[in-house]
Amino acid sequence: VFENILLTVAILSGINGVLAVILVVAEKFFADYGECRVRINKEKEFTVKGGASLLATLNSQKIFLPSACGGRGTCAYCKCRVLEGGGPVLPTEESLLTEEEIGEQFRLACQLKVKKDISLAIPVELLEIQEFKAEVVLLEDLTYDIKRVRLKLIEPDRIQFIPGQYIQLRNAPYPGMSESVSRAYSIASSSFSDSVVDLMVRLIPEGIVTTWVHQYLKVGDPVTFTGPMGDFCLHQSEGSMIMVAGGSGMAPMVSMLHKIRHEKIDREIIYLFGAVTEKDLFFMKEMREFVREIPGFSFIPALSAPAEPEEWKGETGLITLPLEKTLARLKDTGQAQGYLCGSPGMIKACIQVFKQHGVTGERIFYDPFA
Ligand SMILES: Cc1cc2nc3c(=O)[nH]c(=O)nc-3n(C[C@H](O)[C@H](O)[C@H](O)COP(=O)(O)OP(=O)(O)OC[C@H]3O[C@@H](n4cnc5c(N)ncnc54)[C@H](O)[C@@H]3O)c2cc1C
Ligand code: FES
Repeated sequence: VFENILLTVAILSGINGVLAVILVVAEKFFADYGECRVRINKEKEFTVKGGASLLATLNSQKIFLPSACGGRGTCAYCKCRVLEGGGPVLPTEESLLTEEEIGEQFRLACQLKVKKDISLAIPVELLEIQEFKAEVVLLEDLTYDIKRVRLKLIEPDRIQFIPGQYIQLRNAPYPGMSESVSRAYSIASSSFSDSVVDLMVRLIPEGIVTTWVHQYLKVGDPVTFTGPMGDFCLHQSEGSMIMVAGGSGMAPMVSMLHKIRHEKIDREIIYLFGAVTEKDLFFMKEMREFVREIPGFSFIPALSAPAEPEEWKGETGLITLPLEKTLARLKDTGQAQGYLCGSPGMIKACIQVFKQHGVTGERIFYDPFA
């Protein structure tokens, strides 16, 4: 009996799978949604051929919503309000939208297909995101797995961004990869040098864009990206500023430090940089320069597993340990702010430490690299 049940379940699953494939193929080749009108903020309007995702439809009109995961339905950055014509919320959207957001008509633009006339509300600042053509002018190994990439802007030839923001870089196809996708990278350069953009890209094994950057990208290559995007930025305060970021999470911190130095911002700033061993340390010379030139700034690298423990004179342990120590000696935790960048796990652990020391949620700012 048990074997019969298993067999029936297997047959039904198989039939379901085949039907799903037939539906996808039929939708791709035979569904015709005709011309659809897309209306934005009740003023801008254009007509497109229906059937593509809302994200791709907007991209085709040079409207670029943030989409850090490249449309895989995992980041939720492409959220936008669909006032009319969106149809029911899809199962692939449900886990990334809160009930409140669903009530406010938020949808994931990468999941929703344009099948009829549609009306959208998009914040005006997102409508200012542009597509840039640029050329690679510098590629430098910062560590064994992090590269600095400098892009010289060609068209447009200037970018205005707020330190802490990111761009979305699109890979060119390369051997073994025909797909071209976009991924988010924080800007590591100064907002006062507006004709170039520096990135710090950490290699993710088998990652589409990072493999391209690390193994195929060459100085002189043309690239395209969209931006600037994101709301991770400096917030005015008299209180101390505690930055925590390891690896390529350093990128937005460097951009912020350029601004702090340029504008002579006078406050206590402590940057805790987490790394595993000495070979994960980089930008040490640049950090020493910032320490010399920004009066209230100190830089504290911490190694979780120094290769030569007797030689290493700095902090050791996971970054939460020096964070604990720093917060325990801080006199103004009632005013202090936290700035975090890196893996979601690291950010979660640090937020907990901040909160234990009285640095509440509205004073903690972060960008998870996921
Ligand atoms: C706002 C924002 C800013 C970012 N800034 C930077 C930056 O300045 N520098 C930088 O190097 N990265 C940054 N990232 C991460 C970056 O956008 C990509 O996710 C990352 O580079 C992987 O892209 P990929 O195409 O190579 O890998 P994918 O092809 O997307 O992924 C391949 C596999 O690796 C997994 N994976 C993806 N990312 C990671 C990760 N970080 N750690 C472990 N596994 C992973 C995926 O789940 C997948 O299974 C940022 C992300 C966000 C959201
Ligand atoms: S682009 Fe990431 S969820 Fe839509």
